[in-house]
Amino acid sequence: MRRPFVAGNWKMNGSKASADALIAELKPAVASLAAVDIAVCPSAVYIAQVVNAVSGSAIAVGGQNLCDQAGPGAFTGEISAAMLLDLGCRYVIVGHSERRALYGEDDALVAAKFVLAHEAGLVPILCLGELLEERQSGATEAVIARQLDAVLALPGGVRALADNAVIAYEPVWAIGTGLTASPQQAQDVHAFIRQRLQASQAGLGEGVRILYGGSVKADNAGELFAMTDIDGGLIGGASLQANDFAAICLSAVEK
Ligand code: PGA
Repeated sequence: MRRPFVAGNWKMNGSKASADALIAELKPAVASLAAVDIAVCPSAVYIAQVVNAVSGSAIAVGGQNLCDQAGPGAFTGEISAAMLLDLGCRYVIVGHSERRALYGEDDALVAAKFVLAHEAGLVPILCLGELLEERQSGATEAVIARQLDAVLALPGGVRALADNAVIAYEPVWAIGTGLTASPQQAQDVHAFIRQRLQASQAGLGEGVRILYGGSVKADNAGELFAMTDIDGGLIGGASLQANDFAAICLSAVEK
């Protein structure tokens, strides 16, 4: 049985005041949802404040990115896995499509960050997803396989997935666009990911939590999370509203 998991990716949004207000509203709204793991991933500059704000609740905190070097050292502007842990993070998002598309992160870099995060003691959330033109040309499975295989090729990648690492399938055309993969479209890719994990190492497919991300809202979360291989969601825009995010977390409990 995989425990449902819902993570909010705040991206480059918020302020000191809005972060506190959001957590103050979210804490009571999710207090009774013991059957789902919940995390928020604020901008790095607000992580310490948010860790403090969630104290006394089951809400965990994650980073949105990490440096590919363990450090410490001369890596101007970067944030290490050790620093995220030091601040109180449990999770870190790795290879989000915005990092891949806007900041040139390729499969090998993402895989290296994924392994580094796990070895440092964080739970990495590996994002995979195809572009619209890749879906339209029938290349979805080839793209997902390429992104996933970069991680499976590393012994540390397999170890991370066998331990507690999480995968998020996020079709790029569905992120921030209001277009959502249909539950069946998402389920098909989740099942494909699970089969590929299983083929790589016996037993791996069953245990890994695979989240769906891409315009998940309170009104479509239930039908997505009802699918067999969808274990929760990675939520962007809707995670910035406490009541919407709480409603999505509730949908995961009802799975
Ligand atoms: P969205 O973002 O929910 O705003 O589409 C999801 C994500 O990028 O993780």
